Amino acid sequence: MQNTPIGIFDSGVGGLSVLKEIRKSLPNESIVYFADSANCPYGSKVEAQAQALAREKIEFLLEQGCKLIVIACNTVTAVAIDEFRSVFGVPFIGMEPALKPATFQTKTGKIGVLATENTFNGRLFKQTLEKYANGVEVFVQPGFGLVELVEKGEHKSKKARRLLEKYLLPMIEQGVDTLVLGCTHYPFLKEMIEKIAPQPIAVIDPSSAVAAQTKRILCEFNLCSEQNNPTFSFYTTGEKINADRILSQTMNHPYHLKQIKR
Ligand code: DGL
Repeated sequence: MQNTPIGIFDSGVGGLSVLKEIRKSLPNESIVYFADSANCPYGSKVEAQAQALAREKIEFLLEQGCKLIVIACNTVTAVAIDEFRSVFGVPFIGMEPALKPATFQTKTGKIGVLATENTFNGRLFKQTLEKYANGVEVFVQPGFGLVELVEKGEHKSKKARRLLEKYLLPMIEQGVDTLVLGCTHYPFLKEMIEKIAPQPIAVIDPSSAVAAQTKRILCEFNLCSEQNNPTFSFYTTGEKINADRILSQTMNHPYHLKQIKR
C-alpha cells in the first residue's frame, strides 16, 4: 500500500501548482494526476454538476489504486469534499482559503481574496471567514475568465493583465496589502500580479501548506513511500498539447501523459 500512488484531482491544470509542492515535500511518492480540462471551469457551474463531474474522476483515480486523494481545487473542495470523505474509504486532502496566514501578514488590516464564485458561495469559505477574519477587512473578488486563460497557457497575455488590473487595482487602492490566491490556477498568474501592483503586496498561495498536510496524513496512516523510482501519470480530458505545455514547465522528471474521454 505504501508504494501505491497519491491521486491529485483538479478541474484542469491549476492543481499542478500543488503537485509541484507535493513533489518537493514527498519526493518518493508516485502520483496520478487527473485534469478535467474539457469540463473546466467548474467555478461557475451549478454545484450538483461540478460534484458529479468530480466524483467520476475520483472513482477513476481510486481504480488506479490511489492510497490518498488531494483535491487540488478550491472549488471542488468547497462543493464536494464532505461527500467524498463520507463515501470513499481513503483519506482526502482539500484546499482551504488561506485567510489565517493572511491575517498574520497584513499590516494595513485589509486582505483581498481572489477565487471562483463556487468557492465564495461554499460553506467552507464562510466558516473560514468567521473563524479567522476577526479585526481585518476582507475584500472578495471572483476571478471571472482567469482560469480559462491559464488553461490555454495565456497567463502572461495582455488579456490576463487587463483582467487582473480590473480585479485587483480597486482593492489595492483601498489599502489591501495581502492577497489570498483562492484558486489553484492563480499561482500561474503570481508574477503578473506582483508586476501590476503599484506597491509590493504579499501574495499567499496555500500549496506548500497543503503539501505539508499531505505529508502529515500519509505519516499518520503509515502510508509514506520510500521507493526511489516513483512514477508520474497524467490524464486529461482536454487537449494533450495544452496539458503537455504546462506539464513540461512543471515537471523535472519523466512522465506519462494520456488523453482520456470521460
Ligand atoms: N483550480 C480550480 C480551483 O482551485 C479552478 C476552478 C474552476 O474550474 O473554475 O478552484
